[in-house]
Amino acid sequence: MSVNFNALVDAATRPYARAGRYAYHFVRGKLRRDPVFRAILKNGWLPDEGRLIDLGCGLGLLSALLAEAQKQHQAGNWAPDWSTPPRNLEFQGIELQGWKVQAARQAFGDNSPICHGDIRTAELPDCSAAIILDVLLYLNNAEQREILQRIVRTLQPGGTLLLREGNAAGGLRHFVTSTAEHICCLWRGQGWQDLHYRTETQWIALLEELGFSVDSLPMNQGTPFSNILFHATRIT
Ligand SMILES: C[S@@+](CC[C@H](N)C(=O)[O-])C[C@H]1O[C@@H](n2cnc3c(N)ncnc32)[C@H](O)[C@@H]1O
Repeated sequence: MSVNFNALVDAATRPYARAGRYAYHFVRGKLRRDPVFRAILKNGWLPDEGRLIDLGCGLGLLSALLAEAQKQHQAGNWAPDWSTPPRNLEFQGIELQGWKVQAARQAFGDNSPICHGDIRTAELPDCSAAIILDVLLYLNNAEQREILQRIVRTLQPGGTLLLREGNAAGGLRHFVTSTAEHICCLWRGQGWQDLHYRTETQWIALLEELGFSVDSLPMNQGTPFSNILFHATRIT
C-alpha cells in the first residue's frame, strides 16, 4: 500500500473551510506543493513523544497534517516505507499574525494548539523537537542567534531541530527566493522588509557552534527556490 498524500492533505485541510476560502485554499496548496511536509512525514524526523514547538507556525498546517497522518496510520492506511507518524507528540505553535491564530481557532476551536506571540520574546516550553520553517529570514542576525540559543536551552539533549531557510549562496535560485519574498511582503502591505539570509555553510557553522550536529539537504524540489532544510540534533 502507498500513502495517498493528496487525499491525506485534503482530509487535513477540511477543518480550514470553517476559516474561509482563502485559509482553506492556502493550506491545501501549501501542503500539496511544498516538499517539506511530505518529507517530514516520510522520513520520520520527528520524535514519537514529548512536545514539538513550531515557531512562526502560520496557520498551523503542520499540526493539522500530523493529526490526520496519525488517524490514517491508526486506520491502517499507511505505506510500509513511510515512518510511523508521531503518536504522543504534543504540538505547540507560536505565531505573530493575529489573523492566522484566529483562523486556526475557527478551524479547530478550543483545540487549536496555536498561541499568539513573538518568538523573539515568547517563553519557549521544554520540548523534544523544534521546527522553524521560513521564519528566521525576518529576524536580524543577532535575533536569529538569540532564538537558536534559546531553543538549545529548551530542547532536550538528543532532541531535533528542523530549520529551513533560503541558501544565500544559491545563485539565481536565491535571487528568485528573495525577490518572491519581497513581492509577498509588498502584497501583504508590509512594505520593503529587510530580509536576512545566510549561506548554507554559515547556517551549519552557527548551528554547530551552538551545540548541534547538522545534516543539510535541499528542500526545494518542484519549486524555483534555494531552500535548504537543516536537520539538527542537540548534542550538548
Ligand atoms: C513564510 S511563513 C511560514 C509559516 C509556516 N512556518 C509554514 O511553513 O507554513 C512565516 C511565518 O512566520 C511568522 N513570523 C514572522 N516573524 C515572527 C515572529 N517574530 N514571531 C512569530 N512568528 C513570526 C509570520 O507571521 C508567518 O506566519
